[in-house]
Amino acid sequence: MDAQDIRKHYLDFFVKQGHSVIPRALLVPQNDPTTLFTGSGMQPLIPYLLGEPYQSGNRLVDSQTCLRAQDIDEVGDNRHTTFFEMLGNWSLGDYFKAEQLPWFFEFLTDTVGLDPSKLYVTCFIGDKANDIPQDTESAAIWKKLFEAKGVEAKEAKIGSEEAGYKKGIKPGERIFYYDASKNWWCRAGKIADMPAGEPGGPDSEVFYEFDFIQHDKKWGEHCHPNCDCGRFMEIGNSVFMEYVKTDKGFDRLPKQNVDFGGGLERIAAAALNSPDVFKISIVWPIIEELEKRSGKNYDSHTESMRVIADHLRAATFLAVDGVTPSNKEQGYVMRRLVRRAIRFAFELGIEQNFLEFVVPVIADLYEKDFPEVAAKRQEVIETLMKEEKIFRQTLRKGVRELQKIGQNGQITGDDIFTLYDTYGFPVELSTEEAAIQNYPLSDSWQKEFDAKMTEQRLRSQTAAKGTFKGGLGGQTLQHKKYHTATHLMYQALRDVLGDHVIQRGSNITEERLRFDFSHPEKVTPEQLKQVEDIVNEQIQKDLIVTWKEYPTKVAIEEKHALGQFGDRYGDTVKVYNMQAKGEDKPFSFEICGGPHVDHTLQLAEDGKKFKILKEEASSAGIRRIKAVLQ
Ligand code: ALA
Repeated sequence: MDAQDIRKHYLDFFVKQGHSVIPRALLVPQNDPTTLFTGSGMQPLIPYLLGEPYQSGNRLVDSQTCLRAQDIDEVGDNRHTTFFEMLGNWSLGDYFKAEQLPWFFEFLTDTVGLDPSKLYVTCFIGDKANDIPQDTESAAIWKKLFEAKGVEAKEAKIGSEEAGYKKGIKPGERIFYYDASKNWWCRAGKIADMPAGEPGGPDSEVFYEFDFIQHDKKWGEHCHPNCDCGRFMEIGNSVFMEYVKTDKGFDRLPKQNVDFGGGLERIAAAALNSPDVFKISIVWPIIEELEKRSGKNYDSHTESMRVIADHLRAATFLAVDGVTPSNKEQGYVMRRLVRRAIRFAFELGIEQNFLEFVVPVIADLYEKDFPEVAAKRQEVIETLMKEEKIFRQTLRKGVRELQKIGQNGQITGDDIFTLYDTYGFPVELSTEEAAIQNYPLSDSWQKEFDAKMTEQRLRSQTAAKGTFKGGLGGQTLQHKKYHTATHLMYQALRDVLGDHVIQRGSNITEERLRFDFSHPEKVTPEQLKQVEDIVNEQIQKDLIVTWKEYPTKVAIEEKHALGQFGDRYGDTVKVYNMQAKGEDKPFSFEICGGPHVDHTLQLAEDGKKFKILKEEASSAGIRRIKAVLQ
């Protein structure tokens, strides 16, 4: 089975088990205060894992595009990528271990056809300090599953990763108990870092063994499933999300959830019995194109080709999801990815018109399964080609600047950093050009450069945090008006179309509001008119806008405040209330960081009215409205 088949069969398999397929969330979480990118399939589902009812039912399945920009420097080995697809299925308080583990095992062995004797699993050993028991139920389920396939499955208590390197694997062992550092999953990473209100739970991972890879002792004495030598590759993780952190310790969530995530690329690599994820059907054609254009081959230019293939897949999907290269936030990461790819292409001897032939290959690989890729094909190619053009101009400027500095004396690490930071001029090019022109380089240039880089990394981390606090950018009166209008429109859409309308994104400028929401079909002109009328009527009622902070649980479960798909909430949330004087119920009651106007008649200043300019598809099952006050 190739990667496309695996994706399709996975969705079909879980649909047969009563799951609804949900559309992938965008790579850029909308108004999410904690992260620049969607990095796992469960991220958009947090409110529902915490107990908020979900409109499509309690069994969900999808394939979520993910981006982990923190892994950018690790790309180049056989399994790290910044971009990947995570196959995911969820039980929102529905089925649990007894269904999840057999289903995934059946999918891997009977559907994909993996040899069960190459699969190894891990379970949670328990945590006495937090009073969380050992997960013997999962181990018992695994034992039966393996034995039914004629595979011996002894249990082994490992504990920590270090203990794993000491103990290794004894004959017949198949089910390995590890501690919370390996078999507990939460967004914070470590159990000790979980803030109150955060859900998490023990997990059970499945590993595929490449038995032809010899263990390398540089990692530790003996090999074990969580060893980093490459013999074992993790291909799926079932999280039994049944706990929530409290101030005192852990409580059980009202319902037991399953959060499963498995890397599509890795499962596809296992299906090929290849430890190199770049060999799979949704990546290899990119490498072949690079081989063809450069006349070089993958075996002798492995790292460059891997970096290019990974970065351009990521950049292509960022462009599909509406990001453009810039010097800020997601745009900055996108720019880095594209420029790094171009730079690695130099090493293959490809010096121009690079993106215009690689990006279409990527679009071809995805457009059948992701209609939004087909819809935006041309736009995406143009966005990326434009960045290539800008970068090449930058490079020319960088060379000129370097000449100026070099002709006047020594080139320092600070100079190289400035060229890199201001002109985007790659470090390697600075040092190469200096060597060619015989310009003197300071002895400690590398140290000076590294110090500057560290400083900049800290600065950008802080900036990203600052920017996303409140998550909403502008604070001018015009912004506030559009922001308030967005709340009114959200409620009006639900009144007219139904409660399946959930916010999927929002973007506000001084000129207009833009709002994405779930709805399966085109909104008719009559419905749009009704929405406009409701909003204008509420504006005229001069609703008073106030806000209050609530514990998140209370806001969602008791007060039924509106939220948005994909938002992550802390312990408490701010809820905005828009209510007419004399009425006992608010018109709009919504979780939001603000800011807003004080009362809605401010939106009607100078006789302005709320008007919808455009309604269109944004992606599968998601509609987009642009509206103004005019
Ligand atoms: N949320 C889990 C993970 O990302 C499934 O591994």
